[in-house]
Amino acid sequence: MLKEVIATRYITPLREGGSLPGLVEADDFGTYVMKFTGAGQGRKTLVAEVVCGELARRLGLRVPRLVTVELDPVLGLGEPEQQVQDLLRSSGGTNLGMDFLSGALGFDPLAFEVGPEEAGHVLWFDALVNNVDRSWRNPNLLMWQGELWLIDHGATMIWHHNWPGAEASAARPYDASDHALARFAPDVAAAAADLAPRVTEDLLTEVTAEIPDAWLAGEPGFDTADDLRRAYVRPLLARAAAVHERITGIEEVA
Ligand SMILES: Nc1ncnc2c1ncn2[C@@H]1O[C@H](COP(=O)(O)OP(=O)(O)OP(=O)(O)O)[C@@H](O)[C@H]1O
Ligand SMILES: [Mg+2]
Repeated sequence: MLKEVIATRYITPLREGGSLPGLVEADDFGTYVMKFTGAGQGRKTLVAEVVCGELARRLGLRVPRLVTVELDPVLGLGEPEQQVQDLLRSSGGTNLGMDFLSGALGFDPLAFEVGPEEAGHVLWFDALVNNVDRSWRNPNLLMWQGELWLIDHGATMIWHHNWPGAEASAARPYDASDHALARFAPDVAAAAADLAPRVTEDLLTEVTAEIPDAWLAGEPGFDTADDLRRAYVRPLLARAAAVHERITGIEEVA
């Protein structure tokens, strides 16, 4: 289970983020980057953050700790900015939080070095979940305490927007030509050999169990939250086996 905290103070919006994530303080005195259920991108973005973030972490990649943040919309009343006030007011209940990495720098492919092994692991993982948001223009990678951290997995698993076509969509290739780490000679074959056998049904079941029920309720075509959780397992399991053969746009892959 993700740790549950209660938001006690809205500190500031993070302007770089398209969905207007905010910095909040919680009842455990932690500072979190908060992503809101009421944001235009919708709650599936938050589901994707949990599934991909928790999967990446279990595969040995660095992802800031995720928590759920309970929000009382009253917290928005004192906000001077209309946009922030609207966001807080429409996000009562369970939202997503992430440990704030204080002092982290945005990853710049021209300023930092990443080894072929690590680059391969990140790229293989992005191909698995079909992450379209790790380009050199918008890497969604942070450098913190000398190491690479993965953030922002909201734009992944496009198939969860159209469940009837999910299995077919999961078979599609991954174009890595714009990937932020494509220039670091990513060793995708080594990553596949290491990671693919670890993406098991058990692991994916463990990961999807972390999705809060509130974000799964009422999905058309699914009777229960657990039915919907199982729908996330199938395409990822199918894709893990052969995705490295479907990565295009980097030389290392035949
Ligand atoms: N855990 C964190 N620690 C420190 N800074 C963070 C963290 N998470 C996000 N940020 C900062 O906030 C910015 C926006 O976060 P994020 O990319 O997750 O939001 P988004 O709204 O999904 O963004 P996008 O514009 O890419 O859709 C990041 O680019 C980064 O600068
Ligand atoms: Mg981002």
